[in-house]
This record gives sequence, C-alpha cells and structure tokens, in this order.
Amino acid sequence: MQVTMRTLIRSWVFGLSRQLSLKRKNPVLSLIAGVLVGFFLTLYFHNALLPKGTTFSCFIHKQGNLVVYKRAPPVDLTTLTEDKRLLFVGVMTAEKFLDSRAVAVYETWGKTIPGKIVFFSSSNSKASSQLPLVTLPGVDDSYPPQKKSFLMLKYMHDHFLDKFEWFMRADDDVYVRTDKLEKFLRSINSSKAQFIGQAGLGNKEEFGQLSLDDGENFCMGGPGMLMSRETLRLLAPHIRYCLKHLYSTHEDVEVGRCIRRFVGIPCTWSYEMQNIFYQNFAGEETFMGRLKMKEVHRAITLHPIKQPAYLYRLHSYFLHLQSQELRYRTLLLHRDILNMNMLLETNDSLTLNDTGFCHTKQLGVNPHLNRYHPKSREDILVWDFFSKHMYSANNPNPKRRIEAYTQTAINDTVMEMMEMINKFSKQRGRVIEFQDILYGYQRVNPLYGVDYILDLMMKYKKYRGRKMTVPVRRHAYLQQTFSQPEIREIASLYITDEMRNEDPSESDISSTNLLNKVTEINFILPLAGRTPIFQRFLSNFEEVCLQNRERVTLAVVLFSMSDGDSVDAKTALQGLQIRYPKYSLRLLESSGSFSRAMALEIGAKLFPSDALLFIDVDMFFDRNVLKRVRLNTVQGKQVYFPIVFSQYSPQFVPKDSKPSFIHDETGYWRQFGYGIVSLYNSDLYAVGGLDTTIHGWGKEDVDLYSKVVHSNISVFRAADPGLIHIFHDIQCDSQLQVTQFQMCIGSKLSSLGSQGSLAQKIFNNPEQFLD
Ligand SMILES: *[C@@H]1O[C@H](CO)[C@@H](O)[C@H](O)[C@H]1NC(C)=O
Ligand SMILES: *[C@@H]1O[C@H](CO)[C@@H](O)[C@H](O)[C@H]1NC(C)=O
Ligand SMILES: *[C@@H]1O[C@H](CO)[C@@H](O)[C@H](O)[C@H]1NC(C)=O
Ligand SMILES: *[C@@H]1O[C@H](CO)[C@@H](O)[C@H](O)[C@H]1NC(C)=O
Ligand SMILES: *[C@@H]1O[C@H](CO)[C@@H](O)[C@H](O)[C@H]1NC(C)=O
Repeated sequence: MQVTMRTLIRSWVFGLSRQLSLKRKNPVLSLIAGVLVGFFLTLYFHNALLPKGTTFSCFIHKQGNLVVYKRAPPVDLTTLTEDKRLLFVGVMTAEKFLDSRAVAVYETWGKTIPGKIVFFSSSNSKASSQLPLVTLPGVDDSYPPQKKSFLMLKYMHDHFLDKFEWFMRADDDVYVRTDKLEKFLRSINSSKAQFIGQAGLGNKEEFGQLSLDDGENFCMGGPGMLMSRETLRLLAPHIRYCLKHLYSTHEDVEVGRCIRRFVGIPCTWSYEMQNIFYQNFAGEETFMGRLKMKEVHRAITLHPIKQPAYLYRLHSYFLHLQSQELRYRTLLLHRDILNMNMLLETNDSLTLNDTGFCHTKQLGVNPHLNRYHPKSREDILVWDFFSKHMYSANNPNPKRRIEAYTQTAINDTVMEMMEMINKFSKQRGRVIEFQDILYGYQRVNPLYGVDYILDLMMKYKKYRGRKMTVPVRRHAYLQQTFSQPEIREIASLYITDEMRNEDPSESDISSTNLLNKVTEINFILPLAGRTPIFQRFLSNFEEVCLQNRERVTLAVVLFSMSDGDSVDAKTALQGLQIRYPKYSLRLLESSGSFSRAMALEIGAKLFPSDALLFIDVDMFFDRNVLKRVRLNTVQGKQVYFPIVFSQYSPQFVPKDSKPSFIHDETGYWRQFGYGIVSLYNSDLYAVGGLDTTIHGWGKEDVDLYSKVVHSNISVFRAADPGLIHIFHDIQCDSQLQVTQFQMCIGSKLSSLGSQGSLAQKIFNNPEQFLD
C-alpha cells in the first residue's frame, strides 16, 4: 500500500499572565512563562481510504496576512493614503449608547479600520467622550430606526462617496475583524454594484408581512451590510422615495428593498455569508462563554454583543490570535536561521554565540518525534494512551477518566488541526469534517512541549465536480513547543532578605521602618485540646517568625476539652509572650462543642478589615511561606489557598528518607484540602464569611472555598513546598454526619502510605492480608 505523507506546520500561544495593578514600590523582575507552541502535523493517508484522483501536495503553512496596527490619528481626508481609502463605516447608535457601546466599538475594532468610522445618532445627541459623531437633523432615537439608517446612507453619499471604495452600515453591538474584512473586500471588484451581508428572508412569524416576493431577500442589519461605491451612487437619489414608501417596520428589509428596486441587485446569495457575517441567535448570552470555536474563528463580523465589556473581551481574544500568528512567524524564522546555519556549515557565525541563538536552537528545531534525545533510560518520556479513558504507566491510577483539562487541550488541538486541514478547502472544492478520535497517545515534556498521536475518524466531503461524502481515517502527529520564558516587571509585594539586611539600624521590630513596610500576617489557630501538636506549632512559630523578627501576630482560639488543656495552652503561650514582649500573642477561650468555623469567626473578629489573616496553619511551615502569603494574597482581588504536602505514616515511609523530603514515597499533595487559607479580613466578610452552623472539622473549609470561587475575588491555588503536614493518626468520630464521617475516613486512609508502599507491604506479608 502506498503511503503519502505531508507536513503542516502551525503554532499558537497560550498567554499566561496575571496582572496586578498595585502601586509600584519595589519593582522586581518576575518571571512569567510565555508558552510558545509550535505545532506540526503529519498526516498519513492510506490511499485505499481516499477518493480517487485526490492528490495532497506538500505545503508549509499559510501565506502571510500580517497587518500591523497603529493607533489611527483623526483622519485627514485630503491626505488619505491608499490603504486608508478602502472603507467607510457608519455605526448606527442612539444617544443612550454613546458613552457605552459606541465608545467600546471606537476603542476596539474602530481603531483599525482601513478607512474611517463615524457614529450616527439622533439630532440632539451629546457624547461625553471624543467620538467622531454625526447628529442627523430631524432624526430621533425611536425604533425602528428607518429614518436614521436611510439618512445615514445619504450622508455617506453626500460627504464621502468619492473618498472610499466601500461603505458599511453597522450596529453598535457588532464586532468586526477589520484585518479579515480588509482582505475580503480587496478580493472583490468595488467598481461593480455590490450588496454584501447575510441574506435574510424574514422568520416564520413575519412571513408574508415583509412584502417580499418569492426569492426576494435583504441583508440582515445586525451583522452588518456592505455596499460598494457604485451601489451607494445608484441608491442615493432614491432615498427620499424609499423613506416615503415603507412596507414594513424593519429597517434592514426596507434598505434591501430600496437597493433591489433602484440598483437592481439582491443581497449576496451565498451559504458562506452565514459564517462570515455571523449572527448568533442564541439569545442574551451570546459570545460570553467560550470563544475558541470554529464559528468565532471563521467569522468576519460577530453579532450581537450587548454588553460593552464583552466587546473588549472579544477584541482581546482576537489580538491574542494575532500574537499567536506573529509568534508562529518567528518560529519559522528560527527554523530558517537554523537551516541556513546548517547549509552554510559555519559553526562560528555571528549568530551562533549570542544568546538569541539559544532560543533558535530550541525553537528552530524541525518538528520530529525524536527531536529531543533522552540521555538515559530515566529520561525517556512514556506515552499515555487514551480512547474513552486515559491509560498511564506512571500514574498511580493507571486507568482513569480523562481529566477536563486534558480533554480541553485535546479539543483545542483538534480544532486547530481541522482549521489547518480545511485551510485550502475552497480552492480544492472539498471540506473535511472531524468526527471522532478513535484513540490517541500523548506525552508532555515540561522542558520542551507536548506531543500527540491521534487516530481520527473524519468525513471527506467533495462539493465540486463529482460530489461525494466518504469516511476517512487518518493519523495525525502533532507537536507543541514551549518557548523561552518571558520577563515582565511587576510591583514587588514583599521585602527580600537582601533589602532588609541593607538597613543596619534595624535591631528591634518597632524601630525598623523597613519592617513596617511589609504586610503583617495574623495567624489564627483553632485549637481543640491537642496539646502536643500545639507545642510543636509554637516552637515552629517561634523559630520561623519570632526569632527572625517577622511582622506577625498570633491568635489561638481554644475550645477546651478539659481544664488541663486550657492551662497547658495558656502556660505555653505566656512563656512565649515573656520572651517576645513586643509581639501580640493572644489566647481566646470558647465554650461549647468544637466548631472550627466558629473558632475562625471569633479569631477574625479580633482584627480590622484590612488585616491579612493566615488561617489554621496546623503544620510545619518555613519562612518562605510568609513571603508567598504576602505575595499571593491581594486585598479585594485574590485569596491564597496553598496546597500542602502531607506526610505518610512513618510505618510506610522508606527508612532512609529525610523528614522534609518531598517525594512520591514520603507523602502526597493534599489537592482536596482547603483548610489553610490566607485572605484579607474584608474579603472574608465580602464572600459571606464562614458557615458557623457546621460543627466539628471539615466541610466548612470547602464551603469557604466555594464561596470565594463564586465571588469576583479570584482563587490562587498552588503547591507550597514550605507547608508540610506532619503525620498524625486521624480519629474519626462516629457521631459525625455521614458525609463528614466519610470524608474523615477517606482522609485517614489516603494519608497512610503511597500505593506503591502499601502494595509492597501486602506483597512482602501476603499471609497477613490474604485469607
Ligand atoms: C471591475 O468591474 C468593472 C466594471 O464592471 C470592470 O470594468 C473592471 O474590469 C473590473 N475589474 C476587474 C479587475 O475585474
Ligand atoms: C561544525 O561542527 C561540527 C561538529 O561540531 C563539525 O563536524 C563540522 O566540521 C564543523 N564545521 C565547520 C565548518 O567547522
Ligand atoms: C562569537 O565568537 C567568535 C569566535 O568564537 C568571536 O570572534 C565573536 O566576536 C563572537 N561574537 C559575539 C557577538 O560574541
Ligand atoms: C470536547 O469535545 C467533545 C465533543 O467533540 C465534547 O462532548 C466535550 O464536552 C468537549 N470537552 C471539553 C472539556 O471541552
Ligand atoms: C466585587 O463585587 C462587589 C459587589 O458584588 C463590588 O462592590 C466590587 O467592586 C467588586 N470587585 C471587583 C474587583 O470587581
């Protein structure tokens, strides 16, 4: 069997950045990983599955359609350059939208029109912002805006007919991809009469009421309509007549009727226009969710976007696609450099020893499954297999549900791939539709990128010549490359040790100005009579915070089980207070049955609203944790839920491992633990506080977590290697509610030992475990 092969190359970028709008005090450089994704795709076709006569040529990616945008200064019509004479956009708006929708349009796609944009509103409209605004005499903002629309066209004709090739009538809730629109318009002869948009016939209810004859259409107003200069020239003399002879209340229908009658052309009849002038009929929530969809990607205009914030969001998404395109082009240049160097065989050319060449050496490598050679057996990356489930050799759970993030990545990859495959569909008279992934492999190398092998079912549809639909099955080899890190400057939120040491006068916590600049961290610790653990916490707290003169306070909230607990805790804390008199160390006693939520509420009430609270650090922590708490907690914006490393029972940990050693065998990351949190008191209050109706331990932390998730404050959640939970046996009270009890048992069992060591135990002592 003959096998044809071709290579496609493609790239995109995941932008990863968190912007903090804080005052710049101590700028430090912070690394933000920019991830550049080079992508290649090799498809093997089995000829037997392909329709006869189909040949697939080799090509490399796409023609450049790069548009470089500058902020356009006000257009001086006398000096318009050639590329600014293409298009005049008239946006129909109303006074009440001048400061919202109109501004959003003007600040987003309005800035990059290859021509001019003007907003048209009622006669008395006033805008508080600087918009190019025309108030049409005798026109009000009533609906339907037939008069506004026709008089806008008249105005365009009277003032701009000779200055532009194309004229667009747009709504104020549409987004236009101006780069694509420019390319589209330049491919059409504007000297002919043209009327372009998404053709409409009216919906069922309107049928027969629009006075349209069979086969007569109009261009729908929402997604925008385009007229060539010729169309506007022929239309203008008849506008008064058309305004006097309206047959329906629909402005777009009437414009369409007028053009059909006096210019003699209908709206473009083309199936493709539904995709290009994309009208989303889904109701209020349009373009508010996921944007990575083929409908959004292939559209030139998108309608409707009712809330201006979502217009900006859409704009930023398309800018992101553009930056992806640019990065892809740099990737190709890196490949060229590398290939040139190889051809020239100069190992010491200028480029070879500058730092840029390091990037070239990484990014410019041609896509290949063996482009990175493992140096040892351990370095070999093992593939995961997936079909309906994910199968991994080195995951403790060898067969599992495909995680949502993996599924999303695969879906996105497939979408990008289908765009590549269908890029030249029009020229070839065929489309290929994705059907299913039969199975696939994936592997991730954190240093280099992600590889996929996919076995795909697709549908090949030929629509030119002999029409046919054939199922095809193909293998795709896909490679994403990570780029070099990107460096950005952000305000620093904490003082480094070096800075602190620069100030020699610092000897006492109250006398150092520097120390006062860092945020005070207020520890709140609920306690229910577990004295040995409390002792260990205090000595850790003393060593990390007090001895280092960190800016902290401590509030312990004690529910005593017996009088002894209370006395022990008091004595321990008093001892500490005597040694560190300048620190605020408090003990509060509460009675009744223990409620962690109640304890935390009592603790939080001690502090003002702008206090940074660090809750329930019932474990070993080091000094770096304090830095991360200050860095990752941002008042009104972000709450930090660190993921702690939980040690296994010493019974199951290999003898030679060090206690703080983070390893698969010694412990696990408590992904599902939400008990430790740092947040500002005001944010605790803003999200609704703790649910004090929950008694005992557990559930109230999950409750707080989901409250934050549902608020407009973001959750920052990350593994924190400085927080280590020392193993202690968990006692589950059978008096607990069923769900709480089950959670407790789950927690108890999963903290015993790694699956590997538990299995080893059974393997070594089968008689103990097997009947
Ligand atoms: C554009 O249309 C005009 C008028 O029909 C015609 O004279 C001209 O040749 C056309 N131009 C092209 C490039 O087809
Ligand atoms: C470049 O380096 C390679 C190996 O490092 C060597 O084989 C080759 O001869 C060198 N070429 C020149 C022109 O020095
Ligand atoms: C690169 O190395 C060559 C010789 O190894 C040296 O002559 C040249 O100055 C270096 N270029 C740069 C930019 O460092
Ligand atoms: C991935 O795509 C499939 C259909 O192609 C869909 O059912 C599924 O919900 C998508 N999953 C995610 C996480 O987007
Ligand atoms: C979050 O929402 C509250 C009210 O719901 C509002 O007062 C606050 O300004 C919002 N914060 C941000 C950052 O949007």
